[in-house]
Amino acid sequence: MSQFRPLSLLFFLLSLTSLIPQALSWGSLGHRTVAYLALSYLTPNASTYVSSLLNSQDISEASLWPDKVRHMPQFNHTAGWHYIDANDSPPTQCGVNLNRDCDVSDGCVVSAIANQTRRILDASSTHADKGQALRYLLHFFGDVHQPLHTEAEGRGGNDIDVLWRQRRTNLHAVWDSDIPAKRAAKEKGEDEKVVARDWANELFEVDRDHEGSLEGECHTLEKAVECSLDWADEVNQWICDYVLKDDVEGVEGKDLSTEYYEGAVPIVDLLIGKAGRRLGAWINALAVNASATDFDNSKSESLDKELVLPQEEL
Ligand SMILES: *[C@@H]1O[C@H](CO)[C@@H](O)[C@H](O)[C@H]1NC(C)=O
Ligand SMILES: *[C@@H]1O[C@H](CO)[C@@H](O)[C@H](O)[C@H]1NC(C)=O
Ligand SMILES: *[C@@H]1O[C@H](CO)[C@@H](O)[C@H](O)[C@H]1NC(C)=O
Ligand SMILES: *[C@@H]1O[C@H](CO)[C@@H](O)[C@H](O)[C@H]1NC(C)=O
Repeated sequence: MSQFRPLSLLFFLLSLTSLIPQALSWGSLGHRTVAYLALSYLTPNASTYVSSLLNSQDISEASLWPDKVRHMPQFNHTAGWHYIDANDSPPTQCGVNLNRDCDVSDGCVVSAIANQTRRILDASSTHADKGQALRYLLHFFGDVHQPLHTEAEGRGGNDIDVLWRQRRTNLHAVWDSDIPAKRAAKEKGEDEKVVARDWANELFEVDRDHEGSLEGECHTLEKAVECSLDWADEVNQWICDYVLKDDVEGVEGKDLSTEYYEGAVPIVDLLIGKAGRRLGAWINALAVNASATDFDNSKSESLDKELVLPQEEL
């Protein structure tokens, strides 16, 4: 029998903690809200296109898929697609620079949006490939509108310890999940889809001129890199303007559930609103360029096969 070795036990335990998934991007409530909001902006053709490519799966459920698979070995190359880490110097200087901040071989959220846009339009992609590509797009439009998914400082805030209602957490998780949950008044145990749908409806109604606001968003599919880089850069400005406006010291160790929260709410509403609208405009453009078979649900495989997930996680 080998003797007990405390150091290897320690390393074993450490390796376990590294397996615990990091806080999910925007949290599932934020992603669901972006997806439902986009749905409100779709043309009838685009709605048919979406339900065919998603194999009739609920769009908000579909938007969560990239987070569910990113920890599986065959999808671990997608982990970097959820963000672009701006190596800027908040709060004095913000901004995203593609050459500096996006690893071309691994990809980042900007290149991933472009890549999955290409994949969904590619005539040689199967129906299931296109379904995956759409799920990535639903998700990444959300991610690129979460300020801390565009920032390198403190690993996007994951390493910045803060408090939320006296509970120890980190700045990234607060923006992903705690602010949205409080904003949408989600009660424990309440159906998240219902909460997300209500929030999306509210944001849709606030936008008075639907046609005009869609027209104002980039929907030039050939310019996927330029457009998503513009979005990332715009969203990143909020790091200097609010998220870290008093630098890391301004938030570290502080409870963010009161005044900081109040200031964050209009920003979160604005960004979730933009994400949903931009996603809607993008999908409408995709549907215009789609091929006839994309609208035909009989091309689908069974949903579990398509999603490479166990049945209980669908
Ligand atoms: C798109 O909509 C038009 C009507 O606006 C319809 O004639 C056409 O068949 C639709 N195309 C598809 C692929 O659903
Ligand atoms: C993905 O997993 C494989 C096998 O475990 C590993 O060799 C590779 O380095 C991982 N890639 C990333 C980007 O984590
Ligand atoms: C582009 O997408 C394909 C299909 O998901 C993937 O295999 C490839 O790694 C992606 N490339 C980049 C740079 O994101
Ligand atoms: C969309 O379709 C038009 C007309 O068929 C074509 O000229 C254009 O290149 C397509 N765009 C993309 C991104 O595939």
